[in-house]
Amino acid sequence: MIYRPVRNIPVSQITPREMYLNRRSLMAGAGAALAAGMLPAPAFARLETKATAYGADLEPTAKEYVTGYNNFYEFGVGKEDPAANAGSLTTSPWSVEIGGLVAKPATLALEDIVPKVQEDRIYRLRCVEGWSMVIPWVGFQLSDLLAKVEPLGSAKYVAFETLVRPDEMSGQRGFFQPLDWPYVEGLRLDEAMHPLTILATGIYGEELPNQNGAPLRLVVPWKYGFKSIKSIVKITLTEKQPPMTWNIVLPNEYGFYSNVNPQVDHPRWSQASERVIGGGLLTERKPTLMFNGYEEEVADLYAGMDLKKFF
Ligand code: MTE
Repeated sequence: MIYRPVRNIPVSQITPREMYLNRRSLMAGAGAALAAGMLPAPAFARLETKATAYGADLEPTAKEYVTGYNNFYEFGVGKEDPAANAGSLTTSPWSVEIGGLVAKPATLALEDIVPKVQEDRIYRLRCVEGWSMVIPWVGFQLSDLLAKVEPLGSAKYVAFETLVRPDEMSGQRGFFQPLDWPYVEGLRLDEAMHPLTILATGIYGEELPNQNGAPLRLVVPWKYGFKSIKSIVKITLTEKQPPMTWNIVLPNEYGFYSNVNPQVDHPRWSQASERVIGGGLLTERKPTLMFNGYEEEVADLYAGMDLKKFF
């Protein structure tokens, strides 16, 4: 987010046409894509889900954008790097270590974390860089997982960590490291327990492509996208506010809360509006909504707080 200026390039200019046209033309173009060093998207397993009312009124962004325009610095800092490089990540077997201020600390295998039937939830995603998408997630409430380990009364925050595996994560290799690893994030316990906060294992009814944070990533729809940490291996309940990657890098620009707020600008750009990804070149910017449109559900969490101070 800081090493390159935000590029106002539509994904249509950075992705070969055959990658975002329909699947049939993708297959037809597969030879050319291979020759160009771009592998066609692999087929993903369907997940067992139940429909919910979340986002029933939202139109999802085309899958090609959701899976082709990503931020995942472990695989490079360019928007197209994660799709190009994340295929190398082994996501099975996978386990998550859950500990800290809990009665039942445990290292759980992914199969023991993910419910057999998950939920379809369509959420807005607003990146702090000023662009947005609508993503149809498959996931389950983080509160269900936290209940299994029984948080203690002294637990006030939840800390998350992404995998560190330089041999499979190209962005973690080499001389130039854009961030310190692991990527870390945190939530207040009541934010983590909120029904809107989910752990996602899929998009579009299928398992997550690696570039979207496979096999397990956080989704907190009323906060800027960087709070939604990918490929989680560790969850720790703490008494003190945990560190978070972008706050460590630039504390004046990225605060712990990072709630989407059109009235609190980033020091270097306005947050009043957003560029809708997939909307085409001529689409006007759209006004950004308070708490990304989830004000009714989450405003209570911040009652009485100065949101300029706790940005
Ligand atoms: N998680 C990790 N581990 N590393 C990252 O670089 N980028 C964040 C977030 N989670 C990031 C991450 C940012 S800035 C955004 S906007 C979202 O992931 C993007 O999610 P998406 O690529 O699935 O749209």
